[in-house]
Amino acid sequence: MSISQIARSLAPSTTLKLNEKATILRQKGDPVIHLGGGEPKSKAPFDAILATTGLLDSGEIRYSPPDGTVAMKKAIIRYTEEHYNRLVEPRQIIASNGAKQSIMVALQAIINPHEEVIFPAPYWVSYPDMVKLCQGVPRPVLPEDGTFYPKISDIEENVGSYTKAIIINSPNNPTGAAYSEEFIADIINFCKKRDLYLIMDDIYNRLVFDNRKPSNCLNFVKDFGDNSKLILTNGVSKQYAMTGFRIGWAIGNKNLIEVMTTIQSHQTSGPPTISQNAAIGAINGVQSSVENLRVALENRRNIMLDNLNSFDGLKVTKPDGTFYCFVDFSHYNPNSVELAELLLDKVQVITVPGLAFGLDGYLRLSFCGSVNDIREGIERIQWVLDPDAPNELYIGERKLVRDW
Ligand SMILES: Cc1ncc(COP(=O)(O)O)c(C=O)c1O
Repeated sequence: MSISQIARSLAPSTTLKLNEKATILRQKGDPVIHLGGGEPKSKAPFDAILATTGLLDSGEIRYSPPDGTVAMKKAIIRYTEEHYNRLVEPRQIIASNGAKQSIMVALQAIINPHEEVIFPAPYWVSYPDMVKLCQGVPRPVLPEDGTFYPKISDIEENVGSYTKAIIINSPNNPTGAAYSEEFIADIINFCKKRDLYLIMDDIYNRLVFDNRKPSNCLNFVKDFGDNSKLILTNGVSKQYAMTGFRIGWAIGNKNLIEVMTTIQSHQTSGPPTISQNAAIGAINGVQSSVENLRVALENRRNIMLDNLNSFDGLKVTKPDGTFYCFVDFSHYNPNSVELAELLLDKVQVITVPGLAFGLDGYLRLSFCGSVNDIREGIERIQWVLDPDAPNELYIGERKLVRDW
């Protein structure tokens, strides 16, 4: 088969592949525990559902403007005023099919072949492939001090004449690390000084723990007008548990947003109007579901940490937010792909290998599932890895016997 060079350079999304695998195993009746998931299990807010019914009843479901409906933009303006304390104009906004598309069209609008995009590692699995789709060069940067918290010097050392943009995701997928206000301020000032684009991926912004306040990068931005190279992305997927609706957005300078809109208009057109209505309902409606989700996640994070801490040989860093814990399993196997396969094969627990996020030896464990799944999933992992564990394990009626 003859396919393009770009297509050949891409890897399928590890996380989406795992979801497929989980579904197949479940259909076979296997007692799968999915600790690899990337979406909250709670229901979409009632206001989101309600906001779709009027449009559905009318039966008139039409194209949206390519950058989102007027009402969608109004809701995003309101959201930005409330959560970022900044009034933006409709022309500074594009609504897309998920924050993923907003980031993608932003990269397509700014990256020329061979230009480099820097992002801290571990990183969200899609960043490198998105950059490659633009014929750019991804440059992940691992913090030199071995933590999950990059310093401005880590970034600075990797910036060269080909660097075009930096992507920052805090709190971070996969580590859960929320970067300090000082780092956010430093990176904003650094990008301004070096005339670099900065994509702030705030998709987990409100899902933070331990009394942290969601960080507001716009506190450090005086001029968010036509000269600004900051692109702020967010969406309804995680905070409102609305992954399937596919609504995200980007806010930036209006000339850039216009270019992004042209690209999106030829790619997918505007996002579905039903989904935009649902997102408007969520943003303008009662906000208790976000706080309920946040509290539930914090509780599950604590349960996951308690269970992991009873397990010798692991190095665990407490996540500040998101619903992921990125755990160092290198004591058991430095090859994370082999380890994730072993866990799936022996005890049907799905985890995501750290290699997919740019750091081998680690596994990403999600705590967005049920408390039972968290407890039992870790118990099963422990049984596989701990040489002192009993020889047998029961999963429901099934008896597993150690054969390795
Ligand atoms: C770091 C990060 N950014 C962006 C997204 C995209 O979110 P969506 O396209 O569902 O809005 C995800 C989804 O997993 C993510 O983890």
